[in-house]
Amino acid sequence: MVPVVVLDRADQALPLARALLAGGIDVIEVTLRTAAGLPGIEALAGLDEMLVGAGSVVTPEHVDAVVDAGAEFVVSPGTSAAVLQQSAQRGVPAVPGTSSASDLMVCAAADVTEVKVFPAALLGGPAHIAALAAPFPQMRFMPSGGVSAATMNDYLALSCVPAISGSWMVAPQLLREERWHDVTTLATEAVQGARVALG
Ligand code: 3PG
Repeated sequence: MVPVVVLDRADQALPLARALLAGGIDVIEVTLRTAAGLPGIEALAGLDEMLVGAGSVVTPEHVDAVVDAGAEFVVSPGTSAAVLQQSAQRGVPAVPGTSSASDLMVCAAADVTEVKVFPAALLGGPAHIAALAAPFPQMRFMPSGGVSAATMNDYLALSCVPAISGSWMVAPQLLREERWHDVTTLATEAVQGARVALG
């Protein structure tokens, strides 16, 4: 379970991460969509028990900025050979967003076999991923975009889907209202649901 976070303020990062950890989630993707993203990553970099990644990374310069801030992996909405190259250069795993066989061919050429599928629900959901997995049996897919507690198990039923990502347990309103207990509850439910799906 990779929660995708859009921070309003950097000081939301630590209480949010603690709420997720209390719910059994020890990974977080902090997006660069707001000015608070980069300082939010910096704030979490010292939290050893949390694997901290950066999201919405679209340029090689973003890669440098988030790695300098302490990000341990980078996620992109699309596939960019330049971002993949810079991530490899900086020694961090990159999870590129893919929406087509062409994207997957770019990833395969860069020896990247763990990809995001974005926006997963609009692309066709699990059926889209199952179709693309056929010619790319080495690929592992993390659906993102429109995935919910109600649909996540449909994706996890696919053997090529080891992870899913989404924002429902870290919705902006929960952060704004500092509803950390609700974050923990939603994280707990998501983890329990995934465990059931994975047997
Ligand atoms: C995103 O880019 O925001 C992620 O893919 C999460 O999408 P979601 O908000 O639909 O869960």
